[in-house]
Amino acid sequence: MPLVQFPSTRERCPRAARQPRWRAAGRSCAGACLVALALAACGDPAPPLAAAPAPQDLPEADIGRGKALVVRYACASCHEIPGVRGASARVGPTLRNLGERAYLGGVLANTPANLVSWLRDPPAHAPGTAMPDVGLTADQARDIAAYLLTLR
Ligand code: HEC
Repeated sequence: MPLVQFPSTRERCPRAARQPRWRAAGRSCAGACLVALALAACGDPAPPLAAAPAPQDLPEADIGRGKALVVRYACASCHEIPGVRGASARVGPTLRNLGERAYLGGVLANTPANLVSWLRDPPAHAPGTAMPDVGLTADQARDIAAYLLTLR
């Protein structure tokens, strides 16, 4: 039985065959140089993020009560929450290292006051978000916020 021969590059792609090797190499180098130039043009480094929010920023809050509220309001049905048993859901983002996040819901700078506000009414900040307003009072939201900011 005769062997089947694959066509050579020259036969399959006459245009590529016509182009000398050094030409193709030159083009990819030009691309790399452009990328390098674009990166160099970025100039100043990004400004540092604000100091990480911490539970101490909410002095009135009760961290233990916050954790109990997280369980009571079933935040675990949508979030992974380290330290809360069975909280491994993937509907929303993990709440691990929440204090290191720059934004809440991608729209609010992550400050203690904004976190409280987000928890009280997420759709007010991100219309269409899948996170519902679960009806927290201001005190409850503050306790939960302080608890969330202890998560590492
Ligand atoms: C029905 C599912 C659902 C429930 C219940 C829920 N969340 Fe969320 N949560 C989400 C989703 C989805 C997002 C992402 C929001 C967005 O980006 O628009 C989110 C975002 C967040 C964020 C911002 C995190 C970030 O990185 O942007 C925090 C904090 C948060 N939720 C805490 C809670 C707490 C505390 C509870 C319980 C009181 C709770 N969530 C209940 C779905 C839920």
